[in-house]
Amino acid sequence: MGEQVVGFVFGDRRGRQEVGWVASIGVHPDMRRRGIGHLLLEACEEEVGVPRIRLALRPSNLVAKQLYLKTGYVEVDHWDRYYANGEDALIMEKAREKDKRWNREMREF
Ligand SMILES: CC(C)(COP(=O)(O)OP(=O)(O)OC[C@H]1O[C@@H](n2cnc3c(N)ncnc32)[C@H](O)[C@@H]1OP(=O)(O)O)[C@@H](O)C(=O)NCCC(=O)NCCS
Repeated sequence: MGEQVVGFVFGDRRGRQEVGWVASIGVHPDMRRRGIGHLLLEACEEEVGVPRIRLALRPSNLVAKQLYLKTGYVEVDHWDRYYANGEDALIMEKAREKDKRWNREMREF
């Protein structure tokens, strides 16, 4: 869109922890459903660079959940009444490819 911002993603790595977080992601309403969210997520995973990456979402946000499932995230937890309106948070996680390979090799060892 010329010079306009079409999307953003914020990632967070805390100290030396193995788990990073996708803190926030959004794509301009006119630019959705073109693969930008998926690309932003993958870029964030690469940038954060830790073996496992997590995110929190409202279970009612089915569009975001579809994006995360498609990008390889799985449900791992939920936090009770996390959001201001009392809604729980769903926690999803993805192991990066390197980590998945390492896990496989360790199982076969
Ligand atoms: C969630 C969001 C970032 C997705 O961005 P996007 O660029 O439209 O996503 P993509 O085009 O990469 O979509 C990837 C996949 O997600 C799913 N998806 C995306 N939009 C969808 C929709 N409206 N309905 C159903 N599935 C959808 C699909 O599986 C899609 O793959 P496909 O197009 O091959 O079927 C965007 O809708 C958004 O900014 N929403 C508002 C902010 C928000 O909810 N952020 C997340 C907070 S946890």
